[in-house]
Amino acid sequence: MSTASVRPVAEPDGYRPVTAADLGPGQSRCLPEAGIIVARGQDGQYYAVQRQCSHAALDLDGGRVRGASIVCPHHGARFDLKSGRVLGPPAYAPIAAFPTRVRDDMVEVWIYA
Ligand code: FES
Repeated sequence: MSTASVRPVAEPDGYRPVTAADLGPGQSRCLPEAGIIVARGQDGQYYAVQRQCSHAALDLDGGRVRGASIVCPHHGARFDLKSGRVLGPPAYAPIAAFPTRVRDDMVEVWIYA
């Protein structure tokens, strides 16, 4: 797993706004500059995970959100959006998951390198 493309921008409390909080449940948005996917689970919560799938290092952009998980569009691995852990093969390694919050209609993510 690599989070080398993730570049944190220091805020006093470590969070930074990354995108508008206008996603509907089950939608996601790729943020290439941050190397992350922001997704809104069908539970209504916002999540952020690394963009790169741990299976073959391909892009999770375009993956379907199911419940509070995301399914890789390439070979179907499924990851828990809360923790990044693997929920379904062929991946076996987790992906990075980042804390989120919503403030002023923006999704803020605490990104570590
Ligand atoms: S690259 Fe994601 S499951 Fe293969």
